[in-house]
Amino acid sequence: MASPHPLLVFDHAARAYGEVTAVAGVSCTIAAGSFVALVGASGSGKSTLLKMVNTLVEPTGGKVLFGGEDVTTLPPARLRRRVGYVFQGIGLFPHMSVAENIAIGPRLTGETLPPERIAELLELVELEPGMASRMPDELSGGQRQRVGVARALAGEPELLIMDEPFGALDPITRDALGTKVRELHERLGLTTVMVTHDMAEALLLADRVLVMDAGQLVADETPRALLAGAGGEVAQSLVAVPRQQAERLAAMESPGEIPH
Ligand SMILES: Nc1ncnc2c1ncn2[C@@H]1O[C@H](COP(=O)(O)OP(=O)(O)O)[C@@H](O)[C@H]1O
Ligand SMILES: [Mg+2]
Repeated sequence: MASPHPLLVFDHAARAYGEVTAVAGVSCTIAAGSFVALVGASGSGKSTLLKMVNTLVEPTGGKVLFGGEDVTTLPPARLRRRVGYVFQGIGLFPHMSVAENIAIGPRLTGETLPPERIAELLELVELEPGMASRMPDELSGGQRQRVGVARALAGEPELLIMDEPFGALDPITRDALGTKVRELHERLGLTTVMVTHDMAEALLLADRVLVMDAGQLVADETPRALLAGAGGEVAQSLVAVPRQQAERLAAMESPGEIPH
């Protein structure tokens, strides 16, 4: 099999806000079809790096190439159709129905989504077609994030970028949605970049984990390599959290231990 072409390339991509360097020259290549997690502490530059992809933020240095083209040269409405974006937190427009929220992206490029297509998108994220007429405040947090994913998929994007999509959800809902997104990634042949501060989620869902620290990309490893100790100090300090939890649980299950 030929090696997959790079769909997304960060070429010394940098972003400063006045004196603050949010992203300090990140270079990496993301192959078509891969599922990449972007992990790092709060303020390490994850959201800024992601927003450079769909030009919500313009680089102050370097470039971001999508399909070989500098994103800043592509018409924003067309680019944002090819790049589905799931916002950090909730991010639905509260005054619009579920159907209107889902259809907003295509509408910006002059297309009206028919009700059948809305129903199909709801089905993809396992919501009833009747949800189309609901308002966001009539949904649970998990249902809202499902709508957020349906909205990101509405334009049939090649690339899905997600900014801590499940951060505000309870662990069970979060796990179910993560698994769902991974399944949709396979089924729709997407390339996915997901920001998360949760290393356990990254290790479980991604093919590759990028670690950011103070605006720099400090590790780019497979989950297997990270679990085997690769990636350096910052990456390993993040891997230590789920590992210690797993070890404590295993200790509770081993004979002779009485859990309290
Ligand atoms: N619009 C902005 N104006 C000024 N500083 C910003 C802005 N957006 C982000 N920053 C700063 O850039 C750094 C990286 O932020 P961000 O990309 O949001 O990190 P993360 O998503 O990893 O939490 C932080 O220091 C943040 O305060
Ligand atoms: Mg962020």
